[in-house]
Amino acid sequence: MKRILVTGSTGTLGRPVAELLTSLGHDVRGLSRRPGAAYQGDLVSGAGLDAALDGVDTVVHCASDTRRQGKTDLAATRNLLDAAARAGHPHVVFVSIVGVDRIPYPYYRIKLEAEGLIGAYGGTTLRATQFHDFVLAGARIFAKLPLVLAPDVKVQPIATHDVAVRIAELVDQPVAGRVDDLGGPEVLYVPDLFRSYLERIGRHRRVVPVRLPGAAFRAFHDGEHLTPAHRSGGERWSGFLGGTAVER
Ligand SMILES: NC(=O)c1ccc[n+]([C@@H]2O[C@H](COP(=O)([O-])OP(=O)(O)OC[C@H]3O[C@@H](n4cnc5c(N)ncnc54)[C@H](OP(=O)(O)O)[C@@H]3O)[C@@H](O)[C@H]2O)c1
Repeated sequence: MKRILVTGSTGTLGRPVAELLTSLGHDVRGLSRRPGAAYQGDLVSGAGLDAALDGVDTVVHCASDTRRQGKTDLAATRNLLDAAARAGHPHVVFVSIVGVDRIPYPYYRIKLEAEGLIGAYGGTTLRATQFHDFVLAGARIFAKLPLVLAPDVKVQPIATHDVAVRIAELVDQPVAGRVDDLGGPEVLYVPDLFRSYLERIGRHRRVVPVRLPGAAFRAFHDGEHLTPAHRSGGERWSGFLGGTAVER
């Protein structure tokens, strides 16, 4: 049994990570800025970090300023690692994204730099592909348009539970640096994914693949965010979609 702090424990990934680690018998603390959180803290201001890290032997760092493309992520990660060093240097497991070193996308550059901070601290970094939830959120937004414009790219979506399972393995292992990437079980074409979503919600729309200008989109189009050699055996998109409440 380990005492584990999960940052971002209210988030899309952090929540299932905290739940799984708890179900495996670990003593899990979730860090959140929300008032009333058992371990309330702010990675950017540093408030609450020393208390949250007291007596912890592992940190799973899932927090990210995703709504603002990682704007505060480097300050947050530095503060976390400084506090971790003060708390006796627990094992820090960081979640990054496949292709951050190959795709010139601003959020990915920040993730890559954060990976460097984790490496200098002596932690473990796991890169994952896009979560099913992330793809679904995109499909929901695009499906509101009369003509559904879908990025002309492929994705390899993965269930957050399957990422959590891998994180749980890493928590039980010594510091590993950067481990093998983790991708979903299949590589799928985004326009087809959007069509499957429209079918699921019973909406008839034409889906048109679109290409955007710029090096970042070209890299996505070229599949630099995919890792077909590292497919999880976990939940497929169709299974995820089937189990998702229809939301119009
Ligand atoms: N989305 C994807 O497809 C994908 C794929 C691969 C990897 N990843 C990576 O996986 C990680 C988790 O992503 P996600 O989609 O689960 O994110 P998310 O749902 O947006 O959750 C972000 C979490 O970060 C916390 N947070 C943000 N700023 C904070 C701060 N200053 N102090 C403390 N907590 C803070 C939030 O907690 P409170 O608001 O409760 O404080 C929230 O729990 C990210 O590093 C992301 O880059 C994502």
